[in-house]
Amino acid sequence: MDSLEQFEADKRSRVAGLADDSELRRQSREWMAASAPHGYTYNFEWLGVPVIQFPQDLVALQEVIWRTRPDWIVETGVAHGGSLVFSASMLELLGGEGKVLGIDIDIREHNRKRLEAHPLFHRIELIEGNAASDDVAARATGMVNGRVLVILDSNHTHKHVLRELQLYSPLVKADGYLVVFDTSIEEAPDELFNDKPWGRGNNPMTAVREFLEGNPRFEVDTDIEARLQITVAPSGWLRCVAD
Ligand SMILES: C[S@@+](CC[C@H](N)C(=O)[O-])C[C@H]1O[C@@H](n2cnc3c(N)ncnc32)[C@H](O)[C@@H]1O
Repeated sequence: MDSLEQFEADKRSRVAGLADDSELRRQSREWMAASAPHGYTYNFEWLGVPVIQFPQDLVALQEVIWRTRPDWIVETGVAHGGSLVFSASMLELLGGEGKVLGIDIDIREHNRKRLEAHPLFHRIELIEGNAASDDVAARATGMVNGRVLVILDSNHTHKHVLRELQLYSPLVKADGYLVVFDTSIEEAPDELFNDKPWGRGNNPMTAVREFLEGNPRFEVDTDIEARLQITVAPSGWLRCVAD
């Protein structure tokens, strides 16, 4: 075994250990819950634009993008647009013509203006509308082609995410990824979501579970969440295993 193979073998063994460490998983969930009242995920920017994510999830997304080399990245839920700039920057580094499509029901004027002024805006398209509507999904489907990475990060109710999964999963083909953020709501203290229409039993993870029952084309990439530990997408990193 050469040293690169040895490095990969060591990593596989470490990841297996992490996947089995239920105490570390519990502590990671506890840390996430403790950081939530501080609005921890709101503290970061990507190339000057606020991105509402854990840095760990961005590192994993970078790995997925580099490995799968998508032609299009479709993300529902734009907010300030930092996650679109993140994806655009990865596509820029890949070279080629890759583009990002962001869909949001409410793209605030100041956010749109900042995005339009960004040096990577040439890689970004926007649709304003309800991502779970047939009309918006049809427009999005008509815009993209080739290898597509889909990221769902808009409304987090079961019904909404399940509809998004049904509408956008056909865009993802074998070896591509469908990433569903905020599945972590299912494992978080309910009081964190008192003012939200989602919570335990009604969130992206419950939607993913229902979706996977009828969609053998997708399976959970458990390696990613084992490596990350801190992630808002446990059971949400879905790998497509068949066209
Ligand atoms: C959590 S934020 C997105 C964060 C962003 N992906 C990031 O990483 O910075 C959720 C966004 O979803 C949008 N949203 C809520 N309901 C939606 C819907 N039905 N369709 C599309 N977007 C929606 C909100 O307007 C909000 O901007």
